[in-house]
Amino acid sequence: MMDQPLASRIGPTPLLDAAQLNADIEATARFGGTGNGGVSRLTLTPEDKAVRDWFVARASELGCSVTIDPIGNLFASYPGRNAALPAIMTGSHLDTQPGGGRYDGILGVLAGFAALRALKSSGLVTEHPLTVVNWTNEEGSRFSPAMFGSGVHAGAIALDEALAIRDQSGVSVGQALDSIGYRGSRSHTENPAAYVELHIEQGPVLEAEGIAIGAVTGVQGLRWFDVEIKGTESHAGSTPMANRRDALTAAARLILDVEAIGRAHAPGVLTVGRAGVFPNSRNVVPGRVSLQIDMRHPGKAGLEAMETALRQAVAGQTDSRIERIWAKKPVAFDPACIDAVRQAAADCGLSCRDIASGAGHDAAHLATLAPTAMIFIPSRDGLSHNEREYSSPRQCADGAEVLLRTLLKLDRRLA
Ligand code: GLV
Ligand code: MN
Ligand code: MN
Repeated sequence: MMDQPLASRIGPTPLLDAAQLNADIEATARFGGTGNGGVSRLTLTPEDKAVRDWFVARASELGCSVTIDPIGNLFASYPGRNAALPAIMTGSHLDTQPGGGRYDGILGVLAGFAALRALKSSGLVTEHPLTVVNWTNEEGSRFSPAMFGSGVHAGAIALDEALAIRDQSGVSVGQALDSIGYRGSRSHTENPAAYVELHIEQGPVLEAEGIAIGAVTGVQGLRWFDVEIKGTESHAGSTPMANRRDALTAAARLILDVEAIGRAHAPGVLTVGRAGVFPNSRNVVPGRVSLQIDMRHPGKAGLEAMETALRQAVAGQTDSRIERIWAKKPVAFDPACIDAVRQAAADCGLSCRDIASGAGHDAAHLATLAPTAMIFIPSRDGLSHNEREYSSPRQCADGAEVLLRTLLKLDRRLA
């Protein structure tokens, strides 16, 4: 019996403790809980420290050794039979958007722990060590760009550059890491044998089609821009309408242009997600507006066309400037890993379809280091980055079970 490969010794009965996974989701939702079912846990805040402490405690209970790298990524390492093999890695992120949900990212980390728990309680041992990771700043709300934890790990952004990034109040990433005690000293240099991330879909496709599991084929490309429009601050009462240089009304026209560019470049999407008005006082004609713009498209040519149109629209405003602050190419995941997800879903008797990710994920960085795939489960009403984000305990457990079985298949295949 023990000589047979692990994955083939496992029947269709779920291995995963669904109730414990759901309890963990409830437990982590308390750190930064909004009181409306959501979570506000911006990266490297006291709330993030609290959930990181929770991660370290749970990992230790499971018998993992925990390491923290210099950008604050947390790695919980669980032994396999063969310590000489590189680990198979899974995980996601525990930070959230302001007023975000309790599943985005979190599910992928907690499902990693659920997989380890299932192995431990059933006495199953993989050949490879397994690592559950929490990546720093996936969301990119407090610090831009997003995903720099996995980005530093993958060499896409230099550590020093990431540590120097500042939030809106001038606090650097290095200072924020120190203030919560999560700046580690040891880089985790070993490339994993494979990386698999479970995540909620964050869109409407799986729910609309009544499908339990998405085998994610890749992540669309994205570009982030900062735009500034200048006008002239002046008195709201004494400046005649004809004499004004109002930066906010100029920004309003530009925002409508941005929306039109997005509509004209389907399946691309274009969003003004944040605006700053200066000086932001009722009786001052606004003298300056800053806009943070998010652009996504699955193809490089689409991204190029959208960027050209956006730059033209900005140039159409007097006294404006645009800066591209981040770009990520579209990423295709590993065909064999995607197939392992499909097969794992079939083993569980769950419906499955291929799906492209609209959202960005740490897995897109990991795909440059190792064969990578992702698993999606449905999101109610397609909502995410919203307190109402919801996937049922059953859907979460199904996703975690597929994650566990994908890890076991890859363990057998790669050993
Ligand atoms: C991450 O949440 C993203 O922006 O896709
Ligand atoms: Mn996420
Ligand atoms: Mn997110």
